[in-house]
Amino acid sequence: MGRFLVLLGNFQFHELLESRGTFQAEGPVPRRSLAHRLWLILDAGALWDTKLRKIQYKYSSGDSCRDMGHSYSIRLMKEGDAHRSVALTNLMNWGLEVDDFSFMMQLEPKGCFVAVRGDDVIGVTTSISFGPIGWIGNVIVEPKERKKGVGAALVSEALQHLKAEGVATVGLYSYWNTVSFYESLGFKADRNFSWLVCRKASWKGKSMTNLDSRDLQVVVIFDEQCFGASRKRLLKAIYHSPIGICHAILEGDKPVTYLMATRSATSGEIGPWICLPGREEDGFRLVRALGKELLGREVHLGVPSDRVDVVDLLSSLGFVEDFPVVRMVCGPVPPDWNCVLAIESLERG
Ligand SMILES: CC(C)(COP(=O)(O)OP(=O)(O)OC[C@H]1O[C@@H](n2cnc3c(N)ncnc32)[C@H](O)[C@@H]1OP(=O)(O)O)[C@@H](O)C(=O)NCCC(=O)NCCS
Repeated sequence: MGRFLVLLGNFQFHELLESRGTFQAEGPVPRRSLAHRLWLILDAGALWDTKLRKIQYKYSSGDSCRDMGHSYSIRLMKEGDAHRSVALTNLMNWGLEVDDFSFMMQLEPKGCFVAVRGDDVIGVTTSISFGPIGWIGNVIVEPKERKKGVGAALVSEALQHLKAEGVATVGLYSYWNTVSFYESLGFKADRNFSWLVCRKASWKGKSMTNLDSRDLQVVVIFDEQCFGASRKRLLKAIYHSPIGICHAILEGDKPVTYLMATRSATSGEIGPWICLPGREEDGFRLVRALGKELLGREVHLGVPSDRVDVVDLLSSLGFVEDFPVVRMVCGPVPPDWNCVLAIESLERG
């Protein structure tokens, strides 16, 4: 693609050009200064790149960042950080355990980050790449360290990692009150979801046997057609986990719907739950069949808020909304995710 240089000297003009996605500034941009010179490079179609670079200008330049004289740095998460990461996420009652961070580090060792000041972990985030689609989650900063650029630096680091892995579209689930935080980092609100909870599962349904491991491959392919990228690594890990459950309905060797869930002694999480449009009755059978396996547990799942049929079914089983979230996307929106009845998780899409 052809590139040429333009010399300009107006900050607002730079913002305007960047927001159109065709220009990106090269070199540091003094945000508050009005009298400065900007080198802009034409690079049509590079909106993703532009957004990423915009973040980099603000927060990067090596590993160490400075705020009001105190420095912190972003580095890869290590096993030893998991306890502190759990303590941070407990502030938001996300219900994560050390194993959850270990799982993320196994899945994406170069995509989990912590912000540290001295020896203290002051923020975390995790990410995962599925070829063209990537996901960011678990973004949290120690309360007294907020509004100093730490959260943006963590998300920026995750975006850089995902881009290096070849990801074109990055998604995440945001609370309503953090939408503008992610917007400032280049994300756009895409669809509303509801995080539902059933405090004590007590519904009944006809039990089903777990998916035969020989059929896992066709489920993985089916999932890729619906989600837009292969989640083989993740689905295999859930399937083979001692806490994993997987049910599917196949016609011949073609799945029409499948569902995965995980359960501990006291809780369960359902997702992904995927179903061909028009085959929802089959999809609903899968959830009902979980009644026995999740009996007495607190169960969570995230569903598209506009899927009234799904929300109605789950209400009839005792689910209520815990909180709403907004799916936000940076990069081209994949064409059709309408067969996703429940997300895999808030942190992995
Ligand atoms: C959301 C969170 C991670 C932001 O971290 P942070 O370190 O405070 O964010 P930063 O200082 O990097 O802020 C970057 C920009 O976003 C803005 N911002 C930060 N938090 C915001 C919020 N909650 N709502 C709107 N804007 C926000 C900042 O003002 C800043 O804007 P600026 O560059 O124009 O000054 C932090 O508030 C947090 O841990 N919240 C609790 C956990 C949470 O809600 N996580 C998100 C899960 S979806």
